[in-house]
Amino acid sequence: MDARQMKIEAARAALAYVESGMRLGIGTGSTAEEFVRLLAEKVAAGLVIEGVPTSERTARLCVELGVPLKSLDELPELDLTIDGADEVDGALRLIKGGGGALLREKIVAASSQRMIVIADESKVVQTLGAFALPIEVNPFGLVSTRIQIEKTATRLGLSGALNLRQSEDGNFTTDGGHFIIDASFGRIPDAEALSIALNSIPGVVEHGLFINMATLAIIAGPSGARTLQANNT
Ligand code: A5P
Repeated sequence: MDARQMKIEAARAALAYVESGMRLGIGTGSTAEEFVRLLAEKVAAGLVIEGVPTSERTARLCVELGVPLKSLDELPELDLTIDGADEVDGALRLIKGGGGALLREKIVAASSQRMIVIADESKVVQTLGAFALPIEVNPFGLVSTRIQIEKTATRLGLSGALNLRQSEDGNFTTDGGHFIIDASFGRIPDAEALSIALNSIPGVVEHGLFINMATLAIIAGPSGARTLQANNT
């Protein structure tokens, strides 16, 4: 089974948790896109759901494939969000934001009763941090915010490059008009402490640590999909 097939398997297994009438948060990224494709087939066959997309990119795909959408203001309380992740550990702590949608992803997940993560085996880690942590920052005061992130990391015993994410047209800009600093800490032994510390920096809009948000992970490997509950690797 190749990597794409594993993403499809995880997405297919997640579909079993979607019931008619649900208000559904719809994630961003290549795995979430496989989910949207399968969801669209179900919708075409009669499944009734209303989706809230976590990015403009996901919204475009949903519209193209006929998945009905509402804004989060129209549907402020959701039953379930299904989204990918860049890393997931045994306590279902996540790193997200590789696709740059972490702020809307976190707002949508926080508005949902449940969040199911879909991923392939390569995303499962013992300790978060090998994937550079995306930190969404306000463009105003960027240099100052970067210095504050560096000092905060040092205080917590973390170090590593802080790279301003680039796109073909210059600085990568999120759907919300912010920039992203990718922090290569390598290992984040205390994700809770880092999460709180980063959120206390005024120029930090959000960061990609999702803690106590995922309720289940569906992990696909070469021999199929398995579920992962908190502290049950
Ligand atoms: C988007 O901002 C991210 O949080 C994605 O959910 C994450 O990067 C996973 O993407 P893939 O499914 O493409 O690996």
